[in-house]
Amino acid sequence: MIYRSFGTTNIKLSQIGFGAMRFPLTEEYDPTKIDEVKATEMLHYAIDNGVNYIDNAYPYHRQTSEIFLGKALRDGYRERVYLATKMPVWLVKSKDDSIKYFEEQLLRLQTDVIDMYLLHSLSKNAWKTVQECNVLGCLDEMLNAGKIRYAGFSFHDELPLFKEIVDAYPWTFCLIQLNYVDIDYQAGLEGLEYAHKKGLAVMVMEPLRGGKLANNVPKRVLEIIGGSRWKQTPAQFALRWVLNRPEITCVLSGMSTLAQVKENIAFASGEHIDTLTADELQLYAQAREFYRSRTKVNCTQCGYCMPCPQKIPIPFILEIYNDARMYGAIDDSRWMYKVFVKPEHRADRCTACGECEEKCPQKIPVAKFMAEADSLLRQSGDDA
Ligand SMILES: NC(=O)c1ccc[n+]([C@@H]2O[C@H](COP(=O)([O-])OP(=O)(O)OC[C@H]3O[C@@H](n4cnc5c(N)ncnc54)[C@H](OP(=O)(O)O)[C@@H]3O)[C@@H](O)[C@H]2O)c1
Repeated sequence: MIYRSFGTTNIKLSQIGFGAMRFPLTEEYDPTKIDEVKATEMLHYAIDNGVNYIDNAYPYHRQTSEIFLGKALRDGYRERVYLATKMPVWLVKSKDDSIKYFEEQLLRLQTDVIDMYLLHSLSKNAWKTVQECNVLGCLDEMLNAGKIRYAGFSFHDELPLFKEIVDAYPWTFCLIQLNYVDIDYQAGLEGLEYAHKKGLAVMVMEPLRGGKLANNVPKRVLEIIGGSRWKQTPAQFALRWVLNRPEITCVLSGMSTLAQVKENIAFASGEHIDTLTADELQLYAQAREFYRSRTKVNCTQCGYCMPCPQKIPIPFILEIYNDARMYGAIDDSRWMYKVFVKPEHRADRCTACGECEEKCPQKIPVAKFMAEADSLLRQSGDDA
């Protein structure tokens, strides 16, 4: 494992960190049913093989991820990692609330201190809450009391707000979405460079776009990857691009199988900073262009939108809606819609209540796409 400096501190973090948002499940569509045996094996393998940063958050796996992690890090594993989790800013109504959620997280994680604590998913509205409820005052108090060691934030909004937030508080680090497709989206590459110049450690999430750059990769993209001097999987092609950047401290990987953990850790045992040539960067530009031309909805299947009050499986519907265009396979998507989505949970049951749009880090106009998806995917003869 290669380690990189955590900003201006003396801490070194593994260049790949473990994201606790996509553990394997015992029941396919129920994120609360973490397969604890498999997930524990994956975590222990990662830590035993050099991963020393684990990223969690209050809502992951519908609030069960922190509880699971508290158990999985017993027997000495807690002491071997830097533990990160995030405050659910959207639930906070007062400074007392922020303290209440933090104390609850300590209990869930079975620890007295959070090494790296983030304000979760900052956007225009969340930033307003942070200011109105003096959440930064709460961070100061917890830092002074030694209950958190380093303060940071994760971000999902436009670049100017990102810069404003970077400059508003003495953060040690931030977490941004970055992959070879999303280079000028949200904070993007300009945000990466900005935060790095200001001395923040920059962590990266969604390096594989939630798995979209690794699984079921379109034939054209496989051809482009084949033009590289390395023999590599699509996941390695995508990880190589982020790990090439010297400004990044740690790339968070969400892994759902032990095989993925093994592959990604083996890949992270190599040095990747500044290893891509101009010709190779050109391959990424070609693949980016292809994805951009075929992507209808910018969903990364993070699941933040769920649960839907109408029980509509929003990420799944957006996925098959996108796939219809990506692979030109509309019949496959129609078949999946018919077979896997019960009539009472189909996209036409959306009431446009807006709950999901509030929570979506990508700001997707879900109601609009639910209507479009239903009209594309429903076949004549399907139940009304
Ligand atoms: N703060 C925030 O707002 C926020 C938002 C999003 C994420 N995060 C954090 O960032 C972490 C990383 O984001 P992410 O989970 O979206 O990461 P990601 O690496 O972009 O996507 C994870 C998915 O990629 C696939 N994958 C991983 N390794 C693979 C491999 N070697 N081969 C094939 N497929 C592979 C798996 O998909 P399958 O499961 O389909 O196989 C996995 O679930 C999260 O886990 C979470 O901790 C934070």
